Amino acid sequence: MNNKGYDFLVLGSGIAGLFFAIKAAKYGKVAIITKKDKAESSTNYAQGGIAAVITQDDSFELHVRDTLVAGAGLCKEDVVRQIVQEAPDCIKELINLGIQFDSAGEKKENGTLEYDLGREGGHSKRRILHAKDTTGREVEQRLLEVISKEPNVHIYENHIAIDLITTKKLGLPGKNRCIGAYVLNKQTGEVISFSARATVLATGGCGKVYIYTTNPDIATGDGVAMAYRAGAKIANMEFIQFHPTCLYHPKAKSFLISEAVRGEGAVLKTIKGEEFMDKYHPLKSLAPRDIVARAIDSEMKKSGAEYVVLDCTNRPAPFLMNRFPNIYATCLSYGIDMTKEPIPVVPSAHYQSGGVVVDVNGLTSIDGLYAIGEVSCTGLHGANRLASNSLLEAVVCARRAAAHIVQNRLPELNVKIPEWQSGNAQNPDEMVVISHNWNEIRRLMWDYVGIVRTTKRLQRAQKRISNLQEEIQQYYWDFTVTSDLLELRNIAIVAELIINCALQRKESRGLHYTLDYPNPSEEWAHKDTIVCKDVRQCS
Ligand code: FAD
Ligand code: SIN
Repeated sequence: MNNKGYDFLVLGSGIAGLFFAIKAAKYGKVAIITKKDKAESSTNYAQGGIAAVITQDDSFELHVRDTLVAGAGLCKEDVVRQIVQEAPDCIKELINLGIQFDSAGEKKENGTLEYDLGREGGHSKRRILHAKDTTGREVEQRLLEVISKEPNVHIYENHIAIDLITTKKLGLPGKNRCIGAYVLNKQTGEVISFSARATVLATGGCGKVYIYTTNPDIATGDGVAMAYRAGAKIANMEFIQFHPTCLYHPKAKSFLISEAVRGEGAVLKTIKGEEFMDKYHPLKSLAPRDIVARAIDSEMKKSGAEYVVLDCTNRPAPFLMNRFPNIYATCLSYGIDMTKEPIPVVPSAHYQSGGVVVDVNGLTSIDGLYAIGEVSCTGLHGANRLASNSLLEAVVCARRAAAHIVQNRLPELNVKIPEWQSGNAQNPDEMVVISHNWNEIRRLMWDYVGIVRTTKRLQRAQKRISNLQEEIQQYYWDFTVTSDLLELRNIAIVAELIINCALQRKESRGLHYTLDYPNPSEEWAHKDTIVCKDVRQCS
């Protein structure tokens, strides 16, 4: 078997993985494994921007408060403070790497720029740096440009990580430590083992567990599933954020209408043109995302309509076309002129607020294994993520993780990594089973584990997922691995974890709303839901 050795093994090439690699490359050789084209990531589609305290009339205290309010009592305040306070410095680093955020005018005499700051739900100030409505593309492209000039970094595109290699799995004594990962070269079918002194999960979220999502196809929760299988602690998976405004059109796949559009004055209405958000929250259309998504869900259920509309015709056309060129052009390509008519929208799965439990340096419960970005659960988001805080968390934690690994070098381990074992059956006719199970899980999660939940529906979903898991396991061990099979196995595990966490939390809080316990409870006010493969590790 082909074995490759690096100092740092990074799984994923979104903002978290790339920024980490840039930092780590000063200290050793870095391999980035990425399962499709290197730019394909949620990062690449981020619209609204990145939150940070930039102006004199804003303060760390306000950003901290807004984050804590959105998080509904479950944020870790020390983590929130650290990330918010390091934000301006990280933004400076991004700008120094060449990322261009929109400015509010010409450079001043002293050479400084004033930035055009956007506003999004739950923020008490304008503090979102953005590049028009394609902030993620700007970030992804610039970071990839920097990496392309970095001799210490090697990117393996179209390579998908299968599983982490740990000392425990190899039967070695002592505390569990991660020493690398098995990786499938999707083009050749070869499985390669990568070993490294630190392995960093930067694999993003799990939106594809749901049939309707703003996320790109890569978001299949691979990092959470791999970490879970390796024995790491996972937390708060019930807190899946549904973005209120995904474009509703039969031909549009997962196109987001940024919250920044509401930040600039757009208003949610029913299909009859009636405003409704005043019934749900004083901030109306700019209320926190969980409240807006539930309000839309409730209006749609009441009226039987398949969507609501977002009306921005109150803003001048040239302003909309200049501030949101991508949204304007995309809507127009579907025959919707947002300057003249309201945009049909529906909520859809957007962000995984829980994940692999880490400290603020990205360290997981397994030595040598780090998790940064959306795959991780640092405690910044609590029960509900504040808009534009996730790109921020990814950069701050990537920087901290690189520094932590360098300062806490683990001793060398001389371990022979065993050959990859897999079934060798190949039967293309059976592919239909994979696609059937894939669709079944995603539909089931949408119908039974969506915006509004009940214990009965969660239990039903749990039963179905458990049956599907058995079928998938059999496939996994009998057949040669393919990326479709690996992703199916991962979404099934992540679905199971979301359901298990949702069943544990006997209350409604933040993004988790259940009709059986419609109010928050004292008992759960400061408790995370933790899941581990070996329950003894959960405490
Ligand atoms: P990603 O950017 O998703 O990157 C994950 C990487 O891991 C990809 O390269 C993927 O191919 C790779 N990968 C996954 N599994 C494997 C595997 N098994 N093997 C190898 N590689 C693998 N947040 C904000 O803060 N502001 C915004 O304006 C904003 N807008 C958004 C708009 C959209 C449409 C979406 C979908 C999300 C938005 N978010 C926003 C959320 C934010 O974009 C993500 O949380 C963030 O980009 C995640 O970055 P990441 O580096 O953790 O993961
Ligand atoms: C958006 O632009 O609405 C997405 C922002 C985010 O998810 O933080």
